[in-house]
Amino acid sequence: MRATEQQAAQNVRLADRFKRIRDTSRRLCEPLEPEDFVVQSMPDVSPTRWHLAHVTWFFETFVLRPHAEGYRPVDERYEYLFNSYYNAVGEQFPRPRRGMLTRPTVREIFAYRDAVDEAVARLLEQRGDDPALAELITLGLNHEQQHQELLLMDIKHVFSCNPLYPAYRPAEDSPATSVQADPALEFEGGLVEVGHAGEDFCFDNERPRHKSWLEAYRLASRMVTNGEYLEFVSSGAYRDPRHWLADGWATVREEGWKAPLYWVERDGSWFEFTLHGLEPLNPDAPVCHVSYFEADAFASWSGKRLPTEQEWEHASSDIELAGNFLDSGALHPLPHGADGGGRHQLFGDCWEWTRSPYTAYPGYARPDGAIGEYNGKFMCNQFVCRGGAAVTSHDHMRRSYRNFFYPSMRWQFTGIRLAEDPR
Ligand SMILES: [Fe+2]
Repeated sequence: MRATEQQAAQNVRLADRFKRIRDTSRRLCEPLEPEDFVVQSMPDVSPTRWHLAHVTWFFETFVLRPHAEGYRPVDERYEYLFNSYYNAVGEQFPRPRRGMLTRPTVREIFAYRDAVDEAVARLLEQRGDDPALAELITLGLNHEQQHQELLLMDIKHVFSCNPLYPAYRPAEDSPATSVQADPALEFEGGLVEVGHAGEDFCFDNERPRHKSWLEAYRLASRMVTNGEYLEFVSSGAYRDPRHWLADGWATVREEGWKAPLYWVERDGSWFEFTLHGLEPLNPDAPVCHVSYFEADAFASWSGKRLPTEQEWEHASSDIELAGNFLDSGALHPLPHGADGGGRHQLFGDCWEWTRSPYTAYPGYARPDGAIGEYNGKFMCNQFVCRGGAAVTSHDHMRRSYRNFFYPSMRWQFTGIRLAEDPR
């Protein structure tokens, strides 16, 4: 192919990808009723309608305003409402009050999306060969995929607050059971490389690729199950400070935690709230919706520890990037070895807590301008999670992908993989 033909083919691919990912957001809203779009059940949760508008604002602000000649924003006032945290862009409507906004209406927000989609499609036709523009649109699409996961996490939390336990979508299959796991995976350690390699897209926090020293380590060949975690719960661990970090124990007491976020005990039996509604706890499925504090306490109770992010990434290097992602439609972690799951459950199902603080890699450079606020300013007091979950898009994931949460958070799909030092 000649260079111009190659460029034209690339433009078509980006235009197709833009349409496909924008359509996915709309498709994720299909099971929802108008009332569902508005509620904010806690400060960390955003209403569905806010997600839909915010990702659209992102394209308007970082793609259309600077690059589409003569572009006039759909409504100048949306900037204040739908800017999440970009101080370089301007003031923001307070995050904990996003649920107060009943206007613009859901209908108006869908019209906002349509207008911006048309403008981006037109811009791609005219200027799709501009690499800087293609890079920004690719960032906008990865940002939208992050918000698709947030949308599902958030609507799950909204529904969990309702004693009717509504289902986002009914379950299609009967609960799967697990197959026998391999023995723990053994690694010699040594000088390894971590971080994103290559020229294709990654977030700034995955660069630069750099050397890291690992001692020999062992990694469990699957995630911790509900059944195993239930033993921890039944042992009285939530009433016993011995295995908890000080901040973790303080949180257990303050919040009155007795089990993972969506576990419900009824007449001595355990259930779990899922996007399919309230279901009997499947002992073979990975435990999900635990905080870093709970993951760390469970590891300590087990006589083990959580892996570092470097250990996790090194272990993943020869594992196919496949697993139970959003694309499988399960919307919930599946037992190890279930159809659609990945090898050793390393990818998909649940994000895996690591013991690594979320901080800059050696040589990290924050991008210039407002986009520099995307990741860099959050590198404090959070822990890194790896591997993606059942609500993450498969083509959004990379071995080097670093997600991050505060240690007390547990509304995200996070689970536990144990590691240990060989004796
Ligand atoms: Fe965002």
